[in-house]
Amino acid sequence: MIYLDNAATSFPKPPEVAAAVSAALAAPASPGRSGHAASLSASKTVHRARKAVAALLGVQDNSRVIFVANVTWALNLALRGLGLKAGDHVLSGPLEHNAVARPLSRLVKEVGVEWEVAPLVAGRVEPAEFARRLRPETKLAVLNHASNVTGALAPIRDVKAALGDVPLLIDAAQTAGAAPLDDAGSWADIVCFTGHKALMGPTGVGGLWVRPGLELAPLAVGGTGSRSDSFEPPEFLPDALEPGTANTHGLAGLAAGIEFVLGVGVQAIAEHERTLVNLFREKTAPLVGLRILDPSARRTGVLSLNLPGWSASELAVELEAEAGVLTRAGLHCAPLAHQSLGTFPGGAVRFSFGWFTSRSDALTAAEAVLAVSRRGRRNPTAGRGLVKSLGAKPFDADKEVLAARAAAAEAKAARAAEAEAEAVRAAEAEAEAARAAEAEAAGAAGDL
Ligand SMILES: Cc1ncc(COP(=O)(O)O)c(C=O)c1O
Repeated sequence: MIYLDNAATSFPKPPEVAAAVSAALAAPASPGRSGHAASLSASKTVHRARKAVAALLGVQDNSRVIFVANVTWALNLALRGLGLKAGDHVLSGPLEHNAVARPLSRLVKEVGVEWEVAPLVAGRVEPAEFARRLRPETKLAVLNHASNVTGALAPIRDVKAALGDVPLLIDAAQTAGAAPLDDAGSWADIVCFTGHKALMGPTGVGGLWVRPGLELAPLAVGGTGSRSDSFEPPEFLPDALEPGTANTHGLAGLAAGIEFVLGVGVQAIAEHERTLVNLFREKTAPLVGLRILDPSARRTGVLSLNLPGWSASELAVELEAEAGVLTRAGLHCAPLAHQSLGTFPGGAVRFSFGWFTSRSDALTAAEAVLAVSRRGRRNPTAGRGLVKSLGAKPFDADKEVLAARAAAAEAKAARAAEAEAEAVRAAEAEAEAARAAEAEAAGAAGDL
């Protein structure tokens, strides 16, 4: 097996990660609850994970690192917790994952938020497209640091600069552990990450860092082991946003994973992955018609492609049969990205290299692509069902968002018309009252 699906989840994990999870499982107690030694030791494990994330992001106050189950929950917490209201305007990048698109779509429908996408320009995320769309109502911008479809790194510092005071929420699912994230305060206001991809941790752990001065409301409330005398959750971080018992076992693994990553060096990991992508590209370059989705040099170890005459799922099935190469075909939970790239609804085949991928793995995968394209289909029906089901699936997110936007605009117009009618009624009543007062005054004068 050649595992090239590290963008979905990294494999293998460093042995230190399994050892840390196993040690945590063998230890008693829950963190931050009881005062005995075992509980304190569990608290130390969670603290170690918090410190590791703070070191990765180059931030000082590790109490502003909040742990949740994954980046999806982190993004939902950020998007819901900011308290966006009807009429607030949110900008997003053109390559966002459904972990951003779906919560935004809900905010549009349920709250009346306006969501606008800054489009790709010549295949790239363009800071000027964010700047151009800023309005007084713009309350937030959301952008993934690297696309999980193309692997291209977004110009996050330039986007941050283009936004002025509007906060920038970064989805770092694909870059935490695979691209330098230090000095987070200089390029983001909130950074969301997941533990099981390039951070090498187990599934079920992720989180976010929130810059000082930015407040989030919790998605859920419950026991925290602190301020237990009140029905209200504590106001201090991280407790305010971390109700319930922490995933100590997962966080033990996450701490070990991040320590491994920091030990190797994020820069070294990024360069290794880029080398593999380049090797793969050089080897497959002779293929006529091969389309690589954004071959930018500034990238992670993710590369997606399409071959003429092949659907993405057919190609992925053949690659596995040919050489045991495991890729991911389809839309990669990012229909918006594939729409922006013009590869919707069929998607593409994604190869995602990781720290444990060897040069020989990358070469074998490239040779498998060449061999499959030369030989043609071994099994003409393989992957067809999947293509059909993908193709048949209606993509109505846009329709729903547009309908919700139209409904919000209609409601706004109705409110404005009602306010205007009310103002006319009030003016008429006032005029009537003035006329009556005048008549009364005239009457009173007549009485004299
Ligand atoms: C860019 C991006 N955002 C969000 C996610 C969601 O990650 P998770 O399933 O760990 O919440 C992923 C992973 O699939 C991703 O690549």
